[in-house]
Amino acid sequence: MIFTSLPSLCSAEEYHSIVRSAFESGILSHNGPILKKLEKQICIDLKINNYLAVTSGTIALQLAIEALKIKGTIIIPAFSWIASAGAAKWQNCKIKFCDINPKTLNICPTSLEKNIDSTVEAIMPVHVFGNPCEVEVLDELAKKYNLKIIYDSAHAFGSEVNGNSVLDYGDISCVSTHATKIFNTGEGGGLVSNSRDLNEKIKSLRFFGFDENKNVVSKGINGKMTELHAALGLGNIKYFLKTLKHRKHLNHVYRNHLNISKNITFQQIKEGSNCSYFAIIFDDKNLCTKAIEKLESNKVFPRRYFYPALNRLEILNSKQNCPIAESISERILCLPSHNNVSENDARFISEIILSL
Ligand SMILES: Cc1ncc(COP(=O)(O)O)c(C=O)c1O
Repeated sequence: MIFTSLPSLCSAEEYHSIVRSAFESGILSHNGPILKKLEKQICIDLKINNYLAVTSGTIALQLAIEALKIKGTIIIPAFSWIASAGAAKWQNCKIKFCDINPKTLNICPTSLEKNIDSTVEAIMPVHVFGNPCEVEVLDELAKKYNLKIIYDSAHAFGSEVNGNSVLDYGDISCVSTHATKIFNTGEGGGLVSNSRDLNEKIKSLRFFGFDENKNVVSKGINGKMTELHAALGLGNIKYFLKTLKHRKHLNHVYRNHLNISKNITFQQIKEGSNCSYFAIIFDDKNLCTKAIEKLESNKVFPRRYFYPALNRLEILNSKQNCPIAESISERILCLPSHNNVSENDARFISEIILSL
């Protein structure tokens, strides 16, 4: 069976050797030594100045909204995972959805600008599948309308723009290190900001709102990553570059096989994309359904990611139309892309799709 995602893992022995110190010291949480080591290592590997680990990508988004004191409307692209909208809802913010660029699958700056009104305080662009957004254009727009940018970088660990980490853009960038992500801590997430004040605020917020003098100074939450999760991250990070290289290679292999199809298009990606997911977009949604059936009958399990478009989720009660996001979400499939997918597997999967 070939699944879309599988965690990239160090060996159990390596994990044990790192986590043993936590068993010996009894320190399992509270910003312990393993967590500090992991945060430092991530900064070194991604060439960033700050990384604050938390319990999930969703909590990272909530902490970012809280730290930036956003109370009004946040504009979110309709092509994303429910957590982007869910985090805004939990923070009691209003949501406006905007459409995406049909080629890059990222937020469309024109649609974004059309949605800006006096209630909008922030935007939450998503680096879809690790493909960097038009960060400079978004920076300009945010400046023009005095908006904060919270990047949903759930997929973008290791993605770059002009040789720099994409996490360096925006007021705060929020990563997910969930088991299915290109780098994982089992469950987990992280926040990146270059503002000293914001970093202090986030440190306090993730620890119930305590400051360094043990006074409760803000409405915090428990967002602390455990030493057990951090130890897994510290084991896994050693192999991150290898994983990144393999994802980029698989992306290339799939494209080479599938580009003869007249019914499929690919996400237009920037060079710095980490290629964490490989998606194909069918011209027709019925073909997409057929592909799922045929792949599953061959024990290959692709994922409809993201489906449906967020503005079509009843629970979010949106009255907005985002025709591009809606259309793409009905025709897109993510194909298996992880360390255990070989070139032969990619060829086998591509041939099934080409035979439709
Ligand atoms: C775009 C996007 N944002 C946010 C999240 C939430 O991350 P987590 O699962 O770590 O809470 C995900 C998770 O898959 C995601 O895909």
